[in-house]
Amino acid sequence: MLIQSVAVPSLSELAQDVRAGLSKKGQKELPCRYFYDDIGSALFEVITQLPEYGLSRAGQRLLRKSAPAIASRVPSPVIVAELGCGSGRNTRWLLEALSRRGPVTYCPIEISGAALATCKRQLDDIDSLSFVGFQCEYLEGLAEASSLRRTAEHLLVLFLGSTIGNFSRLQGVQFLQQVRQNLMPGDFLLLGTDLEKPVPQLLLAYDDSLGITAAFNLNLLARLNRELEADFRLDQFRHVARYNHQERRIEMHLLSTSKQTVTIPGAGLTVRLERGETIWTESSHKYNVPEVTQMAQQSGFRCDTQWLDEEWPFAHTLFVAE
Ligand SMILES: C[S@@+](CC[C@H](N)C(=O)[O-])C[C@H]1O[C@@H](n2cnc3c(N)ncnc32)[C@H](O)[C@@H]1O
Repeated sequence: MLIQSVAVPSLSELAQDVRAGLSKKGQKELPCRYFYDDIGSALFEVITQLPEYGLSRAGQRLLRKSAPAIASRVPSPVIVAELGCGSGRNTRWLLEALSRRGPVTYCPIEISGAALATCKRQLDDIDSLSFVGFQCEYLEGLAEASSLRRTAEHLLVLFLGSTIGNFSRLQGVQFLQQVRQNLMPGDFLLLGTDLEKPVPQLLLAYDDSLGITAAFNLNLLARLNRELEADFRLDQFRHVARYNHQERRIEMHLLSTSKQTVTIPGAGLTVRLERGETIWTESSHKYNVPEVTQMAQQSGFRCDTQWLDEEWPFAHTLFVAE
Protein backbone atom coordinates (compact mmCIF):
# COMPACT_ATOMS: atom_id res chain seq x y z
CA MET A 1 0.00 0.00 0.00
CA LEU A 2 1.29 3.37 -0.97
CA ILE A 3 0.26 6.98 -0.47
CA GLN A 4 2.07 9.61 -2.51
CA SER A 5 1.89 13.35 -2.01
CA VAL A 6 2.11 15.07 -5.37
CA ALA A 7 1.39 18.75 -4.70
CA VAL A 8 -0.92 19.63 -1.83
CA PRO A 9 -1.88 23.36 -1.86
CA SER A 10 0.73 25.21 0.19
CA LEU A 11 0.15 27.85 2.85
CA SER A 12 1.12 30.53 0.34
CA GLU A 13 -1.48 29.22 -2.12
CA LEU A 14 -4.10 29.30 0.64
CA ALA A 15 -3.07 32.87 1.50
CA GLN A 16 -3.24 33.88 -2.16
CA ASP A 17 -6.71 32.33 -2.67
CA VAL A 18 -7.98 33.94 0.54
CA ARG A 19 -6.64 37.34 -0.55
CA ALA A 20 -8.25 36.99 -3.99
CA GLY A 21 -11.61 35.80 -2.63
CA LEU A 22 -12.02 38.21 0.27
CA SER A 23 -10.83 41.32 -1.52
CA LYS A 24 -13.30 40.85 -4.40
CA LYS A 25 -15.56 43.81 -5.16
CA GLY A 26 -19.15 42.71 -4.56
CA GLN A 27 -19.69 39.13 -3.39
CA LYS A 28 -16.79 37.86 -1.25
CA GLU A 29 -15.86 34.20 -1.75
CA LEU A 30 -13.70 31.40 -0.35
CA PRO A 31 -12.93 28.25 -2.41
CA CYS A 32 -14.74 25.14 -1.14
CA ARG A 33 -11.67 22.90 -1.48
CA TYR A 34 -10.37 24.51 1.75
CA PHE A 35 -13.22 22.98 3.76
CA TYR A 36 -11.33 19.72 3.96
CA ASP A 37 -8.67 20.00 6.62
CA ASP A 38 -8.67 17.22 9.27
CA ILE A 39 -11.63 18.75 11.14
CA GLY A 40 -13.56 19.53 7.94
CA SER A 41 -13.11 15.98 6.64
CA ALA A 42 -14.30 14.55 9.97
CA LEU A 43 -17.36 16.84 9.91
CA PHE A 44 -18.12 15.86 6.31
CA GLU A 45 -18.11 12.21 7.36
CA VAL A 46 -20.77 13.02 9.96
CA ILE A 47 -22.79 14.95 7.34
CA THR A 48 -22.93 11.82 5.17
CA GLN A 49 -24.70 10.04 8.07
CA LEU A 50 -27.33 12.73 8.69
CA PRO A 51 -30.97 11.83 8.00
CA GLU A 52 -31.41 15.09 6.03
CA TYR A 53 -28.42 14.42 3.71
CA GLY A 54 -29.92 11.83 1.39
CA LEU A 55 -27.21 12.19 -1.26
CA SER A 56 -24.73 9.80 0.36
CA ARG A 57 -27.25 7.05 1.03
CA ALA A 58 -28.57 7.35 -2.54
CA GLY A 59 -25.02 7.00 -3.90
CA GLN A 60 -24.46 4.00 -1.65
CA ARG A 61 -27.68 2.26 -2.79
CA LEU A 62 -26.82 2.89 -6.43
CA LEU A 63 -23.27 1.56 -6.17
CA ARG A 64 -24.47 -1.53 -4.38
CA LYS A 65 -27.10 -2.16 -7.04
CA SER A 66 -24.93 -1.35 -10.06
CA ALA A 67 -21.59 -2.89 -8.99
CA PRO A 68 -22.12 -6.27 -10.76
CA ALA A 69 -23.30 -4.54 -13.96
CA ILE A 70 -20.33 -2.14 -13.93
CA ALA A 71 -17.96 -5.06 -13.35
CA SER A 72 -19.47 -6.78 -16.40
CA ARG A 73 -19.06 -3.65 -18.58
CA VAL A 74 -15.48 -2.72 -17.61
CA PRO A 75 -12.93 -5.25 -18.90
CA SER A 76 -10.18 -6.61 -16.66
CA PRO A 77 -7.39 -5.62 -15.84
CA VAL A 78 -8.42 -2.22 -14.55
CA ILE A 79 -7.06 0.83 -12.75
CA VAL A 80 -9.77 2.62 -10.76
CA ALA A 81 -8.99 6.31 -10.11
CA GLU A 82 -11.39 7.99 -7.70
CA LEU A 83 -11.50 11.81 -7.66
CA GLY A 84 -12.16 13.12 -4.13
CA CYS A 85 -12.73 9.67 -2.58
CA GLY A 86 -13.54 10.96 0.93
CA SER A 87 -13.71 7.98 3.29
CA GLY A 88 -14.13 5.63 0.30
CA ARG A 89 -16.77 3.71 2.21
CA ASN A 90 -19.26 3.55 -0.69
CA THR A 91 -16.61 2.49 -3.19
CA ARG A 92 -16.17 -0.85 -1.44
CA TRP A 93 -19.13 -2.45 -3.27
CA LEU A 94 -17.66 -1.67 -6.65
CA LEU A 95 -14.06 -2.55 -5.77
CA GLU A 96 -15.18 -5.90 -4.36
CA ALA A 97 -17.16 -6.69 -7.52
CA LEU A 98 -14.21 -5.73 -9.76
CA SER A 99 -11.58 -7.54 -7.70
CA ARG A 100 -13.58 -10.79 -7.72
CA ARG A 101 -12.65 -11.02 -11.44
CA GLY A 102 -8.96 -10.21 -11.14
CA PRO A 103 -6.38 -7.75 -9.84
CA VAL A 104 -7.42 -4.11 -9.43
CA THR A 105 -5.21 -1.07 -8.85
CA TYR A 106 -7.17 1.52 -6.86
CA CYS A 107 -5.88 5.12 -6.96
CA PRO A 108 -7.88 7.40 -4.63
CA ILE A 109 -7.07 11.07 -5.26
CA GLU A 110 -7.67 13.40 -2.33
CA ILE A 111 -6.65 16.83 -1.25
CA SER A 112 -7.29 15.80 2.37
CA GLY A 113 -4.64 13.62 4.00
CA ALA A 114 -7.11 12.67 6.74
CA ALA A 115 -9.73 11.46 4.23
CA LEU A 116 -7.11 9.51 2.30
CA ALA A 117 -5.92 7.79 5.50
CA THR A 118 -9.53 6.85 6.39
CA CYS A 119 -10.07 5.53 2.87
CA LYS A 120 -6.97 3.36 3.18
CA ARG A 121 -8.22 1.93 6.49
CA GLN A 122 -11.71 1.28 5.05
CA LEU A 123 -10.52 -0.62 1.99
CA ASP A 124 -7.36 -2.25 3.33
CA ASP A 125 -8.82 -5.72 3.51
CA ILE A 126 -10.11 -6.21 -0.06
CA ASP A 127 -8.37 -9.16 -1.73
CA SER A 128 -6.45 -8.56 -4.99
CA LEU A 129 -6.51 -4.78 -4.50
CA SER A 130 -3.36 -2.66 -4.87
CA PHE A 131 -3.88 0.69 -3.18
CA VAL A 132 -1.90 3.66 -4.61
CA GLY A 133 -3.27 6.88 -3.10
CA PHE A 134 -2.41 10.40 -4.23
CA GLN A 135 -2.73 13.40 -1.94
CA CYS A 136 -3.17 16.20 -4.46
CA GLU A 137 -5.61 18.00 -6.77
CA TYR A 138 -8.00 15.92 -8.92
CA LEU A 139 -6.30 16.35 -12.30
CA GLU A 140 -2.75 16.07 -11.03
CA GLY A 141 -3.66 12.79 -9.36
CA LEU A 142 -5.47 11.54 -12.44
CA ALA A 143 -2.39 12.21 -14.60
CA GLU A 144 -0.30 10.20 -12.09
CA ALA A 145 -2.82 7.34 -11.99
CA SER A 146 -3.06 7.20 -15.77
CA SER A 147 0.76 7.06 -16.03
CA LEU A 148 0.66 3.76 -14.08
CA ARG A 149 -1.36 2.16 -16.85
CA ARG A 150 0.18 -0.89 -18.49
CA THR A 151 -0.71 -2.18 -21.97
CA ALA A 152 -4.28 -3.54 -22.13
CA GLU A 153 -5.20 -2.01 -18.77
CA HIS A 154 -8.45 -0.02 -18.76
CA LEU A 155 -9.00 3.07 -16.67
CA LEU A 156 -12.24 3.60 -14.75
CA VAL A 157 -12.56 7.07 -13.19
CA LEU A 158 -15.05 7.58 -10.35
CA PHE A 159 -16.38 11.04 -9.55
CA LEU A 160 -19.11 10.34 -7.02
CA GLY A 161 -21.17 12.12 -4.35
CA SER A 162 -22.19 14.84 -6.87
CA THR A 163 -18.92 16.66 -6.21
CA ILE A 164 -19.19 17.82 -9.86
CA GLY A 165 -21.97 20.10 -8.55
CA ASN A 166 -19.35 22.27 -6.83
CA PHE A 167 -18.34 23.54 -10.27
CA SER A 168 -20.52 25.90 -12.31
CA ARG A 169 -22.26 24.08 -15.20
CA LEU A 170 -19.71 25.43 -17.68
CA GLN A 171 -16.72 24.67 -15.43
CA GLY A 172 -18.16 21.17 -14.87
CA VAL A 173 -18.08 20.43 -18.61
CA GLN A 174 -14.58 21.94 -18.91
CA PHE A 175 -13.44 19.77 -16.00
CA LEU A 176 -14.87 16.61 -17.64
CA GLN A 177 -13.07 17.56 -20.87
CA GLN A 178 -9.81 17.67 -18.91
CA VAL A 179 -10.62 14.29 -17.34
CA ARG A 180 -11.25 12.94 -20.86
CA GLN A 181 -7.78 14.14 -21.96
CA ASN A 182 -6.26 11.70 -19.45
CA LEU A 183 -8.24 8.75 -20.85
CA MET A 184 -8.08 6.58 -23.96
CA PRO A 185 -11.08 5.65 -26.14
CA GLY A 186 -13.01 2.87 -24.42
CA ASP A 187 -12.06 4.01 -20.88
CA PHE A 188 -14.86 4.75 -18.40
CA LEU A 189 -16.10 7.48 -16.08
CA LEU A 190 -18.77 6.83 -13.45
CA LEU A 191 -20.34 10.18 -12.55
CA GLY A 192 -22.64 10.85 -9.57
CA THR A 193 -25.08 13.75 -9.97
CA ASP A 194 -27.68 14.99 -7.52
CA LEU A 195 -30.94 15.65 -9.36
CA GLU A 196 -33.45 18.48 -8.92
CA LYS A 197 -35.94 17.95 -6.10
CA PRO A 198 -38.26 20.04 -3.92
CA VAL A 199 -36.41 23.08 -2.53
CA PRO A 200 -37.38 22.52 1.16
CA GLN A 201 -35.85 19.02 0.99
CA LEU A 202 -32.64 20.48 -0.49
CA LEU A 203 -32.44 23.28 2.06
CA LEU A 204 -32.66 20.79 4.94
CA ALA A 205 -29.88 18.70 3.38
CA TYR A 206 -27.57 21.73 3.59
CA ASP A 207 -28.83 23.14 6.90
CA ASP A 208 -29.44 20.18 9.19
CA SER A 209 -31.12 20.32 12.56
CA LEU A 210 -28.00 19.27 14.51
CA GLY A 211 -25.97 22.11 13.02
CA ILE A 212 -23.23 19.86 11.62
CA THR A 213 -23.28 21.53 8.19
CA ALA A 214 -23.12 24.90 9.95
CA ALA A 215 -20.02 23.72 11.86
CA PHE A 216 -18.53 22.40 8.60
CA ASN A 217 -19.03 25.80 6.97
CA LEU A 218 -17.75 27.80 9.97
CA ASN A 219 -14.70 25.55 10.23
CA LEU A 220 -13.43 27.28 7.10
CA LEU A 221 -13.02 30.51 9.13
CA ALA A 222 -11.60 28.55 12.07
CA ARG A 223 -9.06 27.06 9.64
CA LEU A 224 -8.00 30.56 8.58
CA ASN A 225 -7.61 31.43 12.28
CA ARG A 226 -5.42 28.35 12.80
CA GLU A 227 -3.34 28.50 9.63
CA LEU A 228 -3.19 32.20 8.73
CA GLU A 229 -3.49 33.64 12.27
CA ALA A 230 -6.75 35.37 11.34
CA ASP A 231 -9.05 36.73 14.06
CA PHE A 232 -12.47 35.69 12.76
CA ARG A 233 -14.93 35.64 15.69
CA LEU A 234 -17.06 32.62 14.85
CA ASP A 235 -19.94 33.88 17.00
CA GLN A 236 -20.21 36.87 14.64
CA PHE A 237 -21.03 34.63 11.64
CA ARG A 238 -24.02 32.47 10.78
CA HIS A 239 -24.30 29.57 8.32
CA VAL A 240 -26.84 30.20 5.56
CA ALA A 241 -28.03 27.77 2.84
CA ARG A 242 -29.96 29.32 -0.08
CA TYR A 243 -31.47 27.94 -3.24
CA ASN A 244 -30.62 29.98 -6.33
CA HIS A 245 -33.57 29.24 -8.66
CA GLN A 246 -31.97 30.78 -11.72
CA GLU A 247 -28.77 28.71 -11.45
CA ARG A 248 -30.58 25.68 -9.92
CA ARG A 249 -28.06 25.33 -7.13
CA ILE A 250 -27.73 25.38 -3.38
CA GLU A 251 -25.34 28.07 -2.19
CA MET A 252 -23.72 28.01 1.23
CA HIS A 253 -22.71 31.36 2.70
CA LEU A 254 -21.29 32.67 5.98
CA LEU A 255 -23.28 35.72 7.01
CA SER A 256 -21.69 38.45 9.10
CA THR A 257 -24.10 39.25 11.94
CA SER A 258 -22.38 42.58 12.71
CA LYS A 259 -20.35 45.30 11.01
CA GLN A 260 -16.81 44.08 11.66
CA THR A 261 -13.17 44.14 10.67
CA VAL A 262 -11.12 40.95 10.47
CA THR A 263 -7.35 40.78 10.11
CA ILE A 264 -5.61 37.86 8.40
CA PRO A 265 -1.85 38.40 8.96
CA GLY A 266 -0.89 35.23 7.08
CA ALA A 267 -2.55 36.65 3.96
CA GLY A 268 -1.49 40.26 4.61
CA LEU A 269 -5.14 41.27 4.54
CA THR A 270 -7.70 43.28 6.51
CA VAL A 271 -11.32 42.58 5.60
CA ARG A 272 -14.29 44.82 6.38
CA LEU A 273 -17.72 43.21 6.47
CA GLU A 274 -21.08 44.94 6.73
CA ARG A 275 -23.83 43.52 8.93
CA GLY A 276 -25.74 41.02 6.74
CA GLU A 277 -22.93 40.73 4.17
CA THR A 278 -21.97 37.17 3.22
CA ILE A 279 -18.94 35.15 2.18
CA TRP A 280 -19.97 32.58 -0.44
CA THR A 281 -18.27 29.27 0.34
CA GLU A 282 -19.89 26.54 -1.78
CA SER A 283 -22.28 25.81 -4.63
CA SER A 284 -24.03 22.49 -5.25
CA HIS A 285 -25.64 22.48 -8.67
CA LYS A 286 -28.64 20.23 -9.24
CA TYR A 287 -29.18 18.48 -12.57
CA ASN A 288 -31.84 16.82 -14.68
CA VAL A 289 -31.33 13.59 -16.64
CA PRO A 290 -31.06 15.12 -20.17
CA GLU A 291 -28.42 17.55 -18.86
CA VAL A 292 -26.23 14.64 -17.75
CA THR A 293 -26.39 13.11 -21.26
CA GLN A 294 -25.53 16.51 -22.71
CA MET A 295 -22.52 16.86 -20.37
CA ALA A 296 -21.22 13.51 -21.65
CA GLN A 297 -21.56 14.60 -25.28
CA GLN A 298 -19.91 17.98 -24.64
CA SER A 299 -16.89 16.41 -22.99
CA GLY A 300 -16.00 13.57 -25.37
CA PHE A 301 -17.97 10.72 -23.80
CA ARG A 302 -21.16 8.83 -24.55
CA CYS A 303 -23.59 7.59 -21.92
CA ASP A 304 -23.47 3.82 -21.58
CA THR A 305 -25.78 3.05 -18.64
CA GLN A 306 -27.58 5.11 -16.04
CA TRP A 307 -28.95 4.13 -12.63
CA LEU A 308 -31.47 6.33 -10.80
CA ASP A 309 -32.31 6.21 -7.11
CA GLU A 310 -36.01 6.11 -6.37
CA GLU A 311 -35.91 7.42 -2.79
CA TRP A 312 -33.65 10.44 -3.33
CA PRO A 313 -33.48 11.61 -6.97
CA PHE A 314 -29.82 10.96 -7.78
CA ALA A 315 -28.07 9.48 -10.83
CA HIS A 316 -25.00 7.37 -11.42
CA THR A 317 -24.09 7.42 -15.09
CA LEU A 318 -21.42 5.28 -16.74
CA PHE A 319 -19.74 7.32 -19.50
CA VAL A 320 -17.50 5.71 -22.13
CA ALA A 321 -14.65 7.79 -23.62
CA GLU A 322 -15.08 8.14 -27.42
C1 LIG B 1 -18.22 16.34 -1.31
S1 LIG B 1 -16.88 15.35 -0.75
C2 LIG B 1 -17.33 13.80 -1.47
C3 LIG B 1 -16.60 12.62 -0.89
C4 LIG B 1 -17.00 11.25 -1.47
N1 LIG B 1 -16.74 11.17 -2.89
C5 LIG B 1 -18.46 10.98 -1.19
O1 LIG B 1 -19.22 10.80 -2.15
O2 LIG B 1 -18.83 10.90 0.00
C6 LIG B 1 -15.57 15.93 -1.77
C7 LIG B 1 -14.20 15.26 -1.50
O3 LIG B 1 -13.28 15.75 -2.48
C8 LIG B 1 -12.09 16.23 -1.85
N2 LIG B 1 -11.65 17.39 -2.64
C9 LIG B 1 -12.23 18.62 -2.69
N3 LIG B 1 -11.60 19.41 -3.58
C10 LIG B 1 -10.59 18.65 -4.10
C11 LIG B 1 -9.59 18.90 -5.09
N4 LIG B 1 -9.52 20.07 -5.71
N5 LIG B 1 -8.73 17.89 -5.41
C12 LIG B 1 -8.80 16.69 -4.75
N6 LIG B 1 -9.73 16.40 -3.81
C13 LIG B 1 -10.61 17.36 -3.49
C14 LIG B 1 -12.49 16.60 -0.43
O4 LIG B 1 -11.42 16.50 0.48
C15 LIG B 1 -13.63 15.62 -0.13
O5 LIG B 1 -13.18 14.46 0.51
